[in-house]
Amino acid sequence: MQTDPIRTARLSGTRSGNVEAFLSSMVADTEIATADLLVDMAHLLMLVKVGLIPSEPAKQLMEVLVHFHNTGLPESVFNPAYEDIHAGIEAALTKETGPQIAGRLHMGRSRNDEVATCIHIRLKEKIILILSELLAVRKALLYQVRLSCEVILPGFTHLQYAQPTTLGHYLLAYEEALTRDYARFSDAYKRTDRSPLGSSAFASTGFKIDREYTRELLGFEALALNTMDAVAARDSPLEVLGAASVLMTTVSRLCEDFVIWSSGFAGFIEIDDLYCSTSSVMPQKKNPDTAEIMRSKSGSVSGALFSALTIVKGLPMSYNRDLQELTPHLWRSMNDVILSLKILAPLIESIKWNTEKMAEECKKGYSTATELADTLVRSYDLPFRTAHHIVGRAVKMGDLHLSTLDTASKEEGTGSLSGRGLNESIIENSLDPITGIERRIHPGAPAPAEVKRAESYASSRIVTDEIENKKRREKMDGIFPGILKEKERLSI
Ligand code: ARG
Repeated sequence: MQTDPIRTARLSGTRSGNVEAFLSSMVADTEIATADLLVDMAHLLMLVKVGLIPSEPAKQLMEVLVHFHNTGLPESVFNPAYEDIHAGIEAALTKETGPQIAGRLHMGRSRNDEVATCIHIRLKEKIILILSELLAVRKALLYQVRLSCEVILPGFTHLQYAQPTTLGHYLLAYEEALTRDYARFSDAYKRTDRSPLGSSAFASTGFKIDREYTRELLGFEALALNTMDAVAARDSPLEVLGAASVLMTTVSRLCEDFVIWSSGFAGFIEIDDLYCSTSSVMPQKKNPDTAEIMRSKSGSVSGALFSALTIVKGLPMSYNRDLQELTPHLWRSMNDVILSLKILAPLIESIKWNTEKMAEECKKGYSTATELADTLVRSYDLPFRTAHHIVGRAVKMGDLHLSTLDTASKEEGTGSLSGRGLNESIIENSLDPITGIERRIHPGAPAPAEVKRAESYASSRIVTDEIENKKRREKMDGIFPGILKEKERLSI
């Protein structure tokens, strides 16, 4: 059994394994292990720079920390007998350098600002990964848009035949929703990009530390200024979980479409075998399991948001141990989102569209009836509601032929339409899905020309977003090299 370096003096007794495991955040802390090493190194360099620790012990500590960073932490660090990764790393440093040296590192800080800083670092990395996977999904959608600007698709409201549209228009709808999700994560990134380090337990420290120096070393844009707020707040994780819940709700709806559309009765799409499963008993089955699991992940992620909100909501100022219970929900959700998006992009690219079936379905369910009502308005100067009633009556009678429309018009009190020039060919033309779609040329509408324009706008937006995310990545990748440079400069 390891000795937890933090509790030994103040507390006595040997805790049971149950209590140890119950209190330990070690399982979730594997996510922040590397971040904690960076935080240790930055804090150590700061102590050297301001003259709070002599260079000899600092040199020894730095050497071990860099070694751990380069070769991986020893297994012993992750023993759940330690309350957390911070205690585990301190014990390993003590083993390597002795208590006289390792015991100096925690000067002027607390695990409260340490863990908050680790969470912010790791969360920034997760957001960057989510953003880059989101870009891949948006690209996959646009790849399919380019193949389908002119393909017609029956559109539904209430899952009933509604109006025809283009497949490109449908795919762009999801691309636009995901672009808003992208913006939500980008925005949350700004508020996560704040350094809590130097807040210590909550009331800062009397040592002459340099918060700006560690902020800069750890690649943060600004300080989480108020030291009490810095250790107590978890609104960044909450906000990111919120963004993740909204994103996964969009993903879930897309997957729901895929599940319905791949069914025998819709038959609009074929998802590649690689993303499907079969039945252990029904040999004919090809089930869209990947889309189903993805749909359910949205439930897990929204559940995590709800758990996290509930964990935080009743906590008095400032740090409370309850906060430890939030991070497993956070990391699990981040990993669910990243993995879902990683799979979603190639799944979308793999989809084969049954364009004939889609065109055939456009002719069903009077889904071009709106266009016929619009024609009556245009040609005979009828109020739209009157035209809507005439076509509605004809649908009720069972067809949209000239004689039926005439009867409906008479019932509606607008007399014969054939007498005013309506004929079968005008009706047929109005009911043709392609004619109707080509008229819809407004911004964001389904006409092929507009879909092409929207696709090229969406593509250029992706290029801008990619450049911005690459800069974030580079800044994070620069943290460790920056620390090494500073180590040289301070000759430790
Ligand atoms: N494992 C803790 C957490 O995740 C770290 C901070 C512990 N602080 C304390 N005062 N016990 O929140």
